[in-house]
Amino acid sequence: MSSRKLVIAIDGPAASGKSTTAGLVAERLGYLHVDTGAMYRAIALKVLRERIGMEEKERIEALMPTTHVALKLRNGALRVFLDGEDVTDAIRTPHVSKAVSPVSGYHEVRRAMVREQRLLGAEGGIVMDGRDIGTVVFPDADLKFFMVAGIEARARRRQEELAAKGTVLPLDAVLIDMRERDARDTGRAEAPLLRADDAIDVDTSAMTIEQQVRLVLDTVSKKLQESEAQ
Ligand code: DC
Repeated sequence: MSSRKLVIAIDGPAASGKSTTAGLVAERLGYLHVDTGAMYRAIALKVLRERIGMEEKERIEALMPTTHVALKLRNGALRVFLDGEDVTDAIRTPHVSKAVSPVSGYHEVRRAMVREQRLLGAEGGIVMDGRDIGTVVFPDADLKFFMVAGIEARARRRQEELAAKGTVLPLDAVLIDMRERDARDTGRAEAPLLRADDAIDVDTSAMTIEQQVRLVLDTVSKKLQESEAQ
């Protein structure tokens, strides 16, 4: 494969499979995986810990200059650090999932995270997943994917993910949370979940993770061949 290092953007709603796919694609290409949702989750965790209300925009935005979020690869797995503390597991609770939507809608929060994300991708060799990667963070990304899946399939995946971590919830409760989060993520004024015009659509409802990874890797191979031929 060519030595050119691409910027690959994967956007989509919650539990569409984008982060798992992005992680495996990055591993196989030897690229860095940046799960931007995890970065916003770390901020939401800090807001909860500081006992700041979700509607307190000014107080939340004022946290940003002194808040440090970092992603590091440890033993092959991506770990998330908040002000130096490993919060990888703490950011996956339903409590944080509820708080992250409003927190990620605030301008200063997004500005700080987008700046960090652009720095991480400046040299290429990156697979970044989120909601606004192909539209805002890297509008010139080499490849953009928009992953979707039916809400039932996504809710089931999220339910299984939570159960594996010891939180057992009825499907209906997961569905309600997911609908709420979808509405917030797509309806907000700042950087809403949006498909980039030049994104490749992938419906993962009936796909296995391996099929998703294969599809992305095949597209990457084609892209690299094309750019070598030029
Ligand atoms: O991908 P996730 O479910 O872990 O993302 C958590 C939240 O963060 C999601 O509700 C929307 C927000 N988010 C965002 O606003 N922009 C991104 N690039 C990634 C996530």
